[in-house]
Amino acid sequence: MKCPRVLHVASEMAPLVKLGGLGDVVGSLPAALREVGVDARIVLPAYPGLFERLEAQNLSCAPTGKSVHVALDWRVYSAPLWETSVNNTPVYLLEQPELFADPEVYPRETTPLATLPFAFLSLAALEIPGALEWTPDIFHVHDWPGALVPAALKWHRHYRNRRGDYETVLTIHNLAHQWITTPNALNIWGFVKESFTIEGIEFYGGINALKGGILAADAITTVSPRYAWEIQTPQGGMGLDGVLASCRGKIQGILNGLDYTVWNPETDPLLPAPYSIEDLSGKTLCRKALLQACGWEENDRPLLVFVGRLVEQKGVDILLAAMEDLLSLGTRVLILGSGHPIYERVLQEESRRYQDLLHVHAGYDETLAHLLYAGGDMLLMPSLFEPCGLSQLIALRYGTVPLVRAVGGLADTIIDVDGSPDGNGFLFSDYTPHELRRVVERALSHWHDREQWKIIVRHGMEQDFSWKHSAETYKALYLRLLGN
Ligand code: ADP
Ligand code: GLC
Repeated sequence: MKCPRVLHVASEMAPLVKLGGLGDVVGSLPAALREVGVDARIVLPAYPGLFERLEAQNLSCAPTGKSVHVALDWRVYSAPLWETSVNNTPVYLLEQPELFADPEVYPRETTPLATLPFAFLSLAALEIPGALEWTPDIFHVHDWPGALVPAALKWHRHYRNRRGDYETVLTIHNLAHQWITTPNALNIWGFVKESFTIEGIEFYGGINALKGGILAADAITTVSPRYAWEIQTPQGGMGLDGVLASCRGKIQGILNGLDYTVWNPETDPLLPAPYSIEDLSGKTLCRKALLQACGWEENDRPLLVFVGRLVEQKGVDILLAAMEDLLSLGTRVLILGSGHPIYERVLQEESRRYQDLLHVHAGYDETLAHLLYAGGDMLLMPSLFEPCGLSQLIALRYGTVPLVRAVGGLADTIIDVDGSPDGNGFLFSDYTPHELRRVVERALSHWHDREQWKIIVRHGMEQDFSWKHSAETYKALYLRLLGN
């Protein structure tokens, strides 16, 4: 059987650049694929500060001596290719400081010119086979930043001639981001004008890069089976449900895995004390350290933690609306997140109001995140929608019981304690503060029975959400595309 050669095209990859779960996935899936016999590699932009971060992490990085050249906006942009290895996976870095100048990674504007950096990423990825001796059979692209790879193989005046050379897989991590711009982008990218149709990349008179990628890709995956179904409905389709439903034959939901070499309370170097299912005493020490970090005294109130981007998707609206109720039930709440300035501000105001009961840390802090997962008693994840979610998987591993809304990957991974003897958490359905309060009430009724709570914790910690199974599923998909 052939060993598929797969180039992952992505905008994030932990630990080099991570803004959310996409970084976790691209930082761990390719390594898991290599373990099951796939020659997986990654191409990533060399963002400002990335070479310094590599050095700080003692990762060596060398020039390949080769460059890629891409025509965009009627000029040629070149990028020397660097090579490093992360988790035993080759990573190619594109050094193009003129286009990748923004330390924030993603553009805030939607003008055609603002599309240049990620249009470059996709087209540069297509130049890698000519520049290096290694040639992929498959381009596996992640979300909108890679969507122009399949789209270009169909509609770019030059790359469409190479369509037969490669298969393409597009993984949708989050349909909320589609990369919509004005029609002039087609000129800038070099796409043929026939692409500007309703069966093509056109979208309500503008251009939708993700739509183009969806239509052009040979296979589409989403990061949980339930999300694969949700995005084909008007409620979950973000305007693309019709397009996605028309492609249903090539859509498959494959649940994300977790990198247990990073997320393991027995070995996690960021925790003040390790612990395991057999011996949870270290978790109590982590709880103490967490309380200390907030300047709080120890007491019996359960600690409800939230780690996530402060955006509408994560359910911050109902969390805020339910906050007073949750605290009045006898809990304490700890929030770590960054995102929308309004959410950050209102949460900070609330934390001043409930000083001893609500602590908010606005910002991105990897070490504190590990401490919250370890020191918390319950994880709140009241998401409006959630393609997969990694936070609940981390919480399970760290013995922190997830309280989640039954959507997307949350519904696929959390089993309600009140509905099954194998329960590992608590689910609620309606997106209302009232339902959030009720799920916390239900969880508290179990929390007070400490012996039963230990069983729930154990169920979560024992579960295996590693990449093993999903990596095999991706491999089977690659082999199918290659005709094996
Ligand atoms: P999403 O990708 O939608 O943000 P996920 O649950 O898939 O949600 O993944 C989020 C990842 O980002 C997790 O690893 C989580 O711990 C991490 N994370 C989110 N916000 C922060 C933060 N403020 N500080 C540290 N880590 C964070
Ligand atoms: C997205 C989704 C999240 C998912 C992550 C990794 O950011 O919001 O649910 O876990 O991608 O696939």
